[in-house]
Amino acid sequence: MVTVLFVCLGNICRSPTADGILRHQLKEAGLSQHIEVDSAGTGDWHIGKAPDPRTVAAARQRGYDLSTLRARQVQAEDFHRFDHVLAMDRSNLEHLQAMQPADSRAELRLLLDFHPRRERPDALLSRCAGEVPDPYYGEAEGFEEVLDLVEQACAGLLQHIRQRHGLVA
Ligand code: 4NP
Repeated sequence: MVTVLFVCLGNICRSPTADGILRHQLKEAGLSQHIEVDSAGTGDWHIGKAPDPRTVAAARQRGYDLSTLRARQVQAEDFHRFDHVLAMDRSNLEHLQAMQPADSRAELRLLLDFHPRRERPDALLSRCAGEVPDPYYGEAEGFEEVLDLVEQACAGLLQHIRQRHGLVA
């Protein structure tokens, strides 16, 4: 089993979106039995809560069901449980780098490193400078941008994982 953990700040907007999108892509690719997905937050404010209703609604419009997800805080032991840990922004990444145990072999990266257009960014990707922007205090458009970025990046991540682990459907 290959294991993937998405991490943002609150675990109620960006990382649950990535969790739901990758699960959906795995189902379509027939790889759900081979790749396990989870998400967590660096902060502790929303532990036990469902994702933000705006995130759930925007995701549902595109066919992703986030309703069963519940927020949790990332733990040091996650670095032993998960093969791939994907941070949504550089602040998350720095937090995770500081807590990664020395003997952990987890691959820790920014999710947008796997965006297929990272070498030739479109306007949205240029504006984001490698980070999935936090939509929490913004407008509805921010939630759509998260979906746009994360759909693409998860497809790129899945390709990376398939190559790395020799997974064919
Ligand atoms: P997320 O968004 O990190 O994408 O889940 C946020 C959610 C809540 C807060 C910040 C960011 N907050 O400050 O409560």
